[in-house]
Amino acid sequence: MKLRSQVAGCGAYLPERILTNRELAERLDTSDEWIRQRTGIGERRVAASGELTSDLAFRAAERALSTAGMSGSDLDLLVLATATPDNTFPATAAKVQARLGMTGGAAFDVQAVCAGFIFALAVADNALRLGQARSALVIGAETFSRILDWHDRSTCVLFGDGAGALVLKAVSPTTRGGRYILSNHLHSDGRQYDILYVDGGPSSTCSSGLLRMEGREVFRQAVQHLSDVVDEALRANELTGADIDWLVPHQANSRIIDSIGRRLGLPPEKIVMTIERHANTSAASIPLALELAVSDGRIKAGDLVLMEALGGGLSWGASLVRW
Ligand code: UT7
Repeated sequence: MKLRSQVAGCGAYLPERILTNRELAERLDTSDEWIRQRTGIGERRVAASGELTSDLAFRAAERALSTAGMSGSDLDLLVLATATPDNTFPATAAKVQARLGMTGGAAFDVQAVCAGFIFALAVADNALRLGQARSALVIGAETFSRILDWHDRSTCVLFGDGAGALVLKAVSPTTRGGRYILSNHLHSDGRQYDILYVDGGPSSTCSSGLLRMEGREVFRQAVQHLSDVVDEALRANELTGADIDWLVPHQANSRIIDSIGRRLGLPPEKIVMTIERHANTSAASIPLALELAVSDGRIKAGDLVLMEALGGGLSWGASLVRW
């Protein structure tokens, strides 16, 4: 029997501590005005000492499961997107699996940095379509505050911590009004490895390293690749920008998001923008934005939602979902 993945629940979690642009400007040669104008960021959240990626992921997962009316024991797949795992191994997903009381199925991490949520969603969607699992939890969770060089104003002002999660259930495409993931589109270009990377890791140094980025070049490539991948997603489904109810983009820079919105011909009201409050939370940014727009009543059952993201690798992708 043909199966598809329907969204059954959505949840998010942000650490309590808010770090504003003004606070950063007290420590660094930067200003609230520069950060807002160049990125759209006003503030970000920072995990408390001892608060780990798995803690953020667990809280987002609990909320997503509760909106789906499910518990951990109902799941048979957990895919966690993160570039900031608790430990080098095992997967942070394993810790979250145990805390959720999920004793069957598989739990593993996916690493595509800021594109991680789209990659994890595609992996889970493929498993559900193939009948390898009947329900899946897809989490994006990050503590980028731990891998920032707090002396480098060109990167440390850009990122924040957070987590978001979606519950997926396998459904027959002939029922329930076609509400399921329509398609996922993934790409990578490893030749661009060193324009956005962390200068450490278990096989290269004895430290976990700090984030390094050629911002202007990443920006240029992001606009190009994201424009191409949203076109690809629309073409694959014989749709146009006019069919999209909501663009839920990765939140790296409001200028990148605006340019993709213009490309699609979307008015700003149809774009879910959270960057002002969360900054760039890497793999967590799309599910955080989804949770906000679902809980405030913007995204409703049956809406067509387009998600897109680009991150280190470079890796990028898009997903189209009939919510
Ligand atoms: O999520 C993963 C993907 N990541 C992205 O998509 C990020 C893509 N890149 C960007 O969003 C932007 O390139 C940045 C926000 C990182 C930088 O904006 P920009 O408009 O590309 O600025 P720039 O790097 O060209 O720098 C312009 C100036 C420089 O000074 P000079 O050389 O013109 O004197 C920088 O030194 O702004 C300076 N600058 C700052 N000034 C105040 C850089 N960072 C700061 C800062 N505060 N925090």
